[in-house]
Amino acid sequence: MIGIFDSGIGGLFLLRELHKKFPNQSFIYLADKVHFPYGDKSFSFVRDLVRKNVEFLADQGVKQIVVACNTASATLEKKKSYSIPVIGIVEASLRQAKKDSCNKKVGLLATVETVKSRAFLKKEKDLNLDLQIYQQACPRLAPFVENGGWAISQGKYTGNNKDKSEKLSVFLEEYLQPLIDKGVDTVIMGCTHYLYLESAISQYIGESKKAVGPLEFLVQDLLEVKKNESRELQDEEGITVNVFVSGQDKGFEKQFHQIWGGNKNNVRIVVESLKI
Ligand code: DGL
Repeated sequence: MIGIFDSGIGGLFLLRELHKKFPNQSFIYLADKVHFPYGDKSFSFVRDLVRKNVEFLADQGVKQIVVACNTASATLEKKKSYSIPVIGIVEASLRQAKKDSCNKKVGLLATVETVKSRAFLKKEKDLNLDLQIYQQACPRLAPFVENGGWAISQGKYTGNNKDKSEKLSVFLEEYLQPLIDKGVDTVIMGCTHYLYLESAISQYIGESKKAVGPLEFLVQDLLEVKKNESRELQDEEGITVNVFVSGQDKGFEKQFHQIWGGNKNNVRIVVESLKI
């Protein structure tokens, strides 16, 4: 059983995709909505939330935890601090950028706190990737996605709310144009909420540039963890996907179903409110 958490709906994108890649695994997802957004909190506050979320998921019996939030991943220490593997996503996105960039100039869209932490820059150095990274904080983007009523299963806005489409265009211009002006050929979607905006971001930056996220290398990281534990990705009995949300959020269940889509084969979805 794999545990995943984020501050809200961002990590549901990765939950949905990991569930497709590992259909014989159960998952527990925690949306820590009561503390959303993480991106404007202090580093030490987010680090404490990470600890609490990890403890909550470990108590549910998960064997690995994916921190499906870059702001939270940025606070993870290099040394192992937990009794089970806790996998961040900063490194996975960087490896994808390394793979896809030709000119090695990479833009990073992220929350204010992720940018302040310089976690992507530090990790890039540690991994010796030889990338030039240009950071761009996007304080308004995650709240826009979390509360914006996007038709997120399709990754694009399909409603007829012109204001929202126009708002997004303004945000994308403000956040992407400085990166384009720097000559980047790859843009890291360094906040899981932005993964829903991939088509809009790709459209803005044009075909010659690429928007990348952590999925491909995160799957590799998970396989590696399983291998090191000398455990196969065994079939579990009665696959379940349990989703918890902190606080009282009436809209969350609806958002979950929008994102998850129609296929709920053998999946038990329990959206529960809890206090952490
Ligand atoms: N989804 C989180 C991330 O990947 C950020 C959203 C927030 O600010 O809470 O950084």
